[in-house]
Amino acid sequence: MPKTEIVLSGIRATGKLHFGNFLGAVQNFVRFQQPGNTCLYFIADWHTLTTLQNPEELRGNLIEIVKDYIAAGLDPEQSIIYAQSSVPEISELCLYLGMIQSLGDLERIPTFKDLIRKNPDNVNLGIVTYPVLMAADILGPKATFVPVGEDQVPNVELARALAHKFNRRFGDTFVIPNMMQQMIRVPGLDGSKMGKSESDNAIDINSPISVINERYLKKGITDVERKRASDPGDPYGRCQSVYPVHELVTAGEVETRTIANACRTAQIGCKECKHRLVDGIAKILEPFQAARAELSEKDDYIKEILHEGGKKARAIIRETTMDVRDKMGVVIY
Ligand code: ADP
Ligand code: TRP
Repeated sequence: MPKTEIVLSGIRATGKLHFGNFLGAVQNFVRFQQPGNTCLYFIADWHTLTTLQNPEELRGNLIEIVKDYIAAGLDPEQSIIYAQSSVPEISELCLYLGMIQSLGDLERIPTFKDLIRKNPDNVNLGIVTYPVLMAADILGPKATFVPVGEDQVPNVELARALAHKFNRRFGDTFVIPNMMQQMIRVPGLDGSKMGKSESDNAIDINSPISVINERYLKKGITDVERKRASDPGDPYGRCQSVYPVHELVTAGEVETRTIANACRTAQIGCKECKHRLVDGIAKILEPFQAARAELSEKDDYIKEILHEGGKKARAIIRETTMDVRDKMGVVIY
């Protein structure tokens, strides 16, 4: 990564954060919070409304996720932390970008197909325009770098394409955002992508470690063809929810390889492997949970952070929106 970046990313307020959000998104947010970078991290509350339309839940989830951001290490003095809806100019920018975005491309995007598969009874317009709003989030502050999990790649690609298209038609305006070289996909307990809205496959980052242990023991799907602990296992191919997470959390390659070898040679069974995994997860989550507990009663402090962050984000994004408005010939009389 070059020295100075404008780093931007967001998370929807659809529920509690899980370990996939933590490893795939939040940990990277913290990693890129470095002197020289301008970091903008927000809660995508408008995007949330595409699938969750419960006002109380939305308000509650938003505050709780910002607590997670802070406990994970985001510092409101170093990063701009805000709610998407605090910046009305994002929706205006979305409207302009929507004018140059074809409907066909939106219908073909895998994340659209995925959202309608999960919400067949509510295929609203917001789901169709979801990636355009996301492009406005990204292009508004001229982000150069967008840390997201693997599932979001098609949306960021669409933002890149929109930026190129606008620049070609109306002159150089937007910066083309980059993504990380290596993105991850944390599997849930059933082996499919861990997700907030998914069935019961997520590990809540605020669960006590004993509960996480219990969930892995009871629900974590491993190598289904390994009937007895004395049978050799297949960590790379068949193990669905445990070994792939070891690769992401267990400190150092040597330790990870030792576990893989022990599995293949039947020196450890799945139960022991799960215990070791939870030890690795505990090392990551315990310091986070301790910091998080300090914030549990501090809603006013969180609202203040959002208020200040909203003002800062708005000042930045307003500039781009005014420029776009002007370039497209829209005049405010
Ligand atoms: P969810 O999919 O759980 O509803 P979001 O869509 O709000 O969560 O995702 C927020 C961020 O977390 C995005 O950058 C997304 O790519 C990342 N993310 C979500 N689930 C995973 C996962 N299982 N593995 C890696 N990253 C993930
Ligand atoms: N769509 C993203 C997700 O579901 C959330 C999001 C909205 C986002 N706007 C964004 C992520 C802009 C990165 C940049 O995870």
